[in-house]
Amino acid sequence: MDFFNLLIAFFVSKKLTLLTAFLCWRPEEVTELVKLGREAGVRVRVHLDFQRLPALPAYRTFREGMLLDIRCDNSSRVLDTASSERAFNLRHSWLIIDDSPFNVTYLENTLEDTLVLPDGDVTWASSDLMVDIYRVKDDQPVVVTSLGAMKSQIELERLWARLPTAVTRRKNLNNVYLKSATIITQPQYFKGWNDLSNRQIDTFPKVTYPLLMLCGEDLKFRFNLKQVDLYGEEHNGSFDGLVGLMQRGELELGVTSMFLRGDRWRVVHFCAETVELKGNFLFRQPSRSAVSNVFALPFSRGVWLALAAVFGAAAALLTLFGAVARRCTTDAAAPRLTLLESFTYSVGTICQQGSDLAPQLLSVRVLMFCTLLASLFAFTSYSAKIVAILQAPSDALQTVADLTRSPMDLGVQETTYKRVYFAESTDPVTQALYRRKLLPLGERAYLSVVDGIARVRTGLFAFQVEESSAYDIISKTYTEREKCGLKEIKAFTLPMVAVPVRKHSGYRDLLGARLRWQREVGLMDRFRRIWMSAKPKCDAGSGGFVSVGLADVLPAAHVLLAGALLAVLLLLLERLARAVTRTRAARLIPCADHVANHGIL
Ligand SMILES: *[C@@H]1O[C@H](CO)[C@@H](O)[C@H](O)[C@H]1NC(C)=O
Ligand SMILES: *[C@@H]1O[C@H](CO)[C@@H](O)[C@H](O)[C@H]1NC(C)=O
Ligand SMILES: *[C@@H]1O[C@H](CO)[C@@H](O)[C@H](O)[C@H]1NC(C)=O
Repeated sequence: MDFFNLLIAFFVSKKLTLLTAFLCWRPEEVTELVKLGREAGVRVRVHLDFQRLPALPAYRTFREGMLLDIRCDNSSRVLDTASSERAFNLRHSWLIIDDSPFNVTYLENTLEDTLVLPDGDVTWASSDLMVDIYRVKDDQPVVVTSLGAMKSQIELERLWARLPTAVTRRKNLNNVYLKSATIITQPQYFKGWNDLSNRQIDTFPKVTYPLLMLCGEDLKFRFNLKQVDLYGEEHNGSFDGLVGLMQRGELELGVTSMFLRGDRWRVVHFCAETVELKGNFLFRQPSRSAVSNVFALPFSRGVWLALAAVFGAAAALLTLFGAVARRCTTDAAAPRLTLLESFTYSVGTICQQGSDLAPQLLSVRVLMFCTLLASLFAFTSYSAKIVAILQAPSDALQTVADLTRSPMDLGVQETTYKRVYFAESTDPVTQALYRRKLLPLGERAYLSVVDGIARVRTGLFAFQVEESSAYDIISKTYTEREKCGLKEIKAFTLPMVAVPVRKHSGYRDLLGARLRWQREVGLMDRFRRIWMSAKPKCDAGSGGFVSVGLADVLPAAHVLLAGALLAVLLLLLERLARAVTRTRAARLIPCADHVANHGIL
């Protein structure tokens, strides 16, 4: 039958491969339709019983065709169910067929309670005319646009190509009010939508509000705006806050952006993403001295070895020369050039100390001079390098693993999903960090932005925070120098934030397209710059110099302490040895004193 061919051609021209049909035809007609569909590559599922309808809308990730014969008994049940469940949405292309001539009164009467919102794709096909229908809102009249008579597949494809998209055609929402809500979590700090003094509080509603107001002007609708104080968390399958209102169908649109997350996705949809967030670990690089021994850093291992070789060789040569001088000359200094004395000379040279040794042998003098000169060069570069290390900002911590190993304390910004980021992270390094540094702290790990950033300032503290709010506070409270050493390490990727709409909202595509347009022309970027602070600039030159603290010279103090302890220990040992030898001497040679006395006398 030609009519069946036309039906299938309609869905093929819309590039659909799955068709759900609500019909009350004779079995052979149904079989014919299914057969034709199969030949054209369209899978047809027919529902003849209007009392037991399948899930409407069938929410899949692909588009789907829907066919309804309006002259069937109880066809209004399908319309009603589809309206209340919002099945007239952009994923479902509906074709409503009526086998009599077009009668607009009949159409209006039949679709009186049908909710075909601007996102819907509903075509009403009478025997002589096809029309496209939608309504701006449930209390508004049906808008009927003629598409001409039912045509062949080629002609339909041409028609769809010629027809502007639904978003372009339906841009005038006739000044209706849309039920919406925004989030103000701390009303005591709210001083209007243009108040920039507390940018870190409720940033997302504030950055999204002007965008949606523009959207409202653009699409000619108004907001029936409520105020709630929570984004919405799941308890027992139902959400509270704004998401909860949407889950219960009390809202059409949320004037805020929120994280695109799987659990929320089950109950709300999102129309367009607004800003990208970074939730990195923010900290001030600890100075080098905090993470390593400054005194060992200036030279590479090769230089240390070379120096040891030079001064070792100097001591050895000096001993050798001493032996030669003792044998061949009458040099007064020669007897003192023993191995131990040469070694002491070498150590003294390293420490830039001269020696009272003044041998006459010229070769020994040349050797001493060269050793001193080598020591001078080594010492100069060593001290210069130490100063440079103490002044340069350190790059000690670069990865999450470095952070885990470092002595840094850790904190996390207090947000709805503070725990989830870490729990959901699959990266073993992040997991290790969480278990080692955050879990033992319990609730104390979660801080407000202001407190966390203040602790970052005093050092050795890394704070996982949404960057723009952190930078806002940093630019207000930090000195230039403190801004310089700031470092971020990425621990995990935050989801995008997007504008939520009611699940299967009838305005999702319309709003989404206009918001994306705002992104493309740069409006979104403009508001992002107003509300989200960028990283504060660091003027490295204007920082002055770092004063060296006790921590920086701690290794030297350790050496001093160790030396002192060793000296005390040696003293005790010497006293002990003396005591032991005395008692032994007294026991073995009781008259030794007499002998000695006689000798002296
Ligand atoms: C239409 O619905 C009524 C009640 O809802 C039912 O009694 C009747 O049988 C239905 N008709 C058909 C054709 O299914
Ligand atoms: C159109 O439909 C209405 C209501 O179903 C009916 O009263 C009217 O007579 C119809 N008009 C034509 C021209 O068929
Ligand atoms: C969650 O649901 C269970 C069973 O339905 C109920 O016993 C419990 O009280 C609910 N908890 C909350 C917080 O609503």
